[in-house]
Amino acid sequence: MPNPKPKLEGEVYYPSEAVKAQANVPDWEAMAEHARHDLQGFWAERAEELEWFQKWDKVLDDSNKPFFKWFVGGKTNIVHNAIDRHLNTARKNKLALIWESEKGDQQRTFSYFSLNREVSRFANIIKAMGVQKGDRVTIYLPRIPEISFAMLACAKIGAVHSVVFAGFSVDALQGRIEDSQSKLVITADGSYQNGKVVELKRTVDEALKKCPSVENVIVVRRVGHDVPMEASRDHWYHDMCALPIANGKCATEVLDAEDPLYILYTSGSTGKPKAILHTHGGYMVGTYTTLKYVFDLKDDDRWWCAADPGWVTGHSYIVYAPLILGATSFMFEGGPAYPYPNRWWQCIERYGITVFYTAPTAIRGLMRFGEAWPAKHDLSSLRLLGTVGEPINPEAWRWYYRVIGKNQCPIMDTWWQTETGMFMITPTPTVPLKPGSATRPFFGLEAEILDDAGNAVADGEEGYLVLKNPWPAMLRTIYGDDERYVSQYWSKYPGKYLAGDSARRDKDGYFWIIGRVDDVIKVSGHRLGTAEVESALVSHPAVAEAAAIGLPHEVKGTAIHCFCILRSGFAPSEALAEELRQHVAKHMGPIARPEDVKFTDKLPKTRSGKIMRRVLKARAQGLPEGDISTLEE
Ligand code: WTA
Repeated sequence: MPNPKPKLEGEVYYPSEAVKAQANVPDWEAMAEHARHDLQGFWAERAEELEWFQKWDKVLDDSNKPFFKWFVGGKTNIVHNAIDRHLNTARKNKLALIWESEKGDQQRTFSYFSLNREVSRFANIIKAMGVQKGDRVTIYLPRIPEISFAMLACAKIGAVHSVVFAGFSVDALQGRIEDSQSKLVITADGSYQNGKVVELKRTVDEALKKCPSVENVIVVRRVGHDVPMEASRDHWYHDMCALPIANGKCATEVLDAEDPLYILYTSGSTGKPKAILHTHGGYMVGTYTTLKYVFDLKDDDRWWCAADPGWVTGHSYIVYAPLILGATSFMFEGGPAYPYPNRWWQCIERYGITVFYTAPTAIRGLMRFGEAWPAKHDLSSLRLLGTVGEPINPEAWRWYYRVIGKNQCPIMDTWWQTETGMFMITPTPTVPLKPGSATRPFFGLEAEILDDAGNAVADGEEGYLVLKNPWPAMLRTIYGDDERYVSQYWSKYPGKYLAGDSARRDKDGYFWIIGRVDDVIKVSGHRLGTAEVESALVSHPAVAEAAAIGLPHEVKGTAIHCFCILRSGFAPSEALAEELRQHVAKHMGPIARPEDVKFTDKLPKTRSGKIMRRVLKARAQGLPEGDISTLEE
């Protein structure tokens, strides 16, 4: 294929002949052109590759913007495509999931056949507990196979899962359970983290003191700790499995394409986390297509997405898309550096991983340990790499490319969000790469960079990133808050989706994401809101007012820095700062522990009393404060 634009500017990595020869999208330009001219036709063809109980009448219904609907009139269930349809093929015996424990002392594997058995059993149990179509179920589980089973079981019967990342703590969990009005919570007795036990069940008990909607709790045994069980409410999963009701077939519910699949809470601008709603049909088509084209998956691949199932990356690309593709996935319980910084490389070698996807923060962290650790392992099975979650700095990109990919593996830098459900700005393997750029919008998408007034900025200039076309895996709304959905995403520039990121585009049409422009902080790729951190701080008796901002951090990308005004009677001290850091970690979760807490007498505010975090951030970095005309003092 002739390269349409051979002279790209800057540091460019072109695909090898070997990569081109096997790519699922051999001709990027042709496919982009097709989708540009016939958006609905493009997505309809993708949807036809999957199974539907009844075909859709309309691919896209945009009669009530921005409440777009996809595959209207179609009947399906994502689980039918992720599991059931494989059972009538040779894939029935193929490995769907390989799992390894943190310490490496346990391995579990599941074929598609046994995955179906596990999911059906889980579904039978939650059904027997009275969970019905449309009911919300909160899942608070570590990286163990049961998290996938629980999510798929909900989807199978048409219940709506709401997964809360197991690194969150009491306040975060309680707020999410309460907002979703879940009837059932699925958790574990505990989880392992770097050799220590995290007491998940105790956190659930604490949270449920204020959540009257919850009728039942299912507890998966993982660490074997003795945990208090409340007789009428709490049930061991293994006890339930032994009941006759658990075994036997469980029919996959026939659903409308637009029936809700899950909600996932994420932080936005000030205020409590928003429940992003995804639906069965469009999400299934969008995640399937992007994984197939971007990570080029083939039947003999072994895919490892090293994210946590508790975030959107895990939802889309650990749990759903790989199964829809009939792929073999690997799930690892632990982190990259426990007990030694070769843990991931050891897994790649041990399981022959071919395509590996992680976050820049992990790469930067592992880089610090040096090349000797990956050098101990045979990584030659790898053929493609990926990153997500935050911008990747070119040094980390080059290290990943050279030391892990041995200069052979293109790196797919995928920009997307909880809201988008699927990769949005991303290369496919044949696209020439520039370290630090997510390259170009995926097929059928158009992105723009606008200034405050809504005019497109010149190439090379920074502005607000927006998306112009709808896509099948897009969020449908904020659960229970249609108004906020419209105001948050579709109001600044009517008719265009506001991503909340700043970015620039270069002369070659490549996009460079700079970072969030709202009150979201990306800490080690985890999406956190300043509001939640601040409310954890003011729940401490010493704190009258608090502001949290993100500042650059070498490994984490961004780290949380806090400023507190103390109540009278409390004096600033090192010990109090430390106590406040612990307090946030205890209430919100260790991932939200502030890097640093400073005390102050005043916070910069607008005349209407809103904290100007932007000004705090500029001051902390010694940068110009920008427009401060609305500043109070
Ligand atoms: C950031 C994660 C640069 C961005 C899938 C976005 C990225 C936010 C990239 C969404 C990337 C994600 N390059 N920045 N490749 N991918 N981001 O909802 O700021 O946890 O808005 O979804 O992560 O975070 P979320």
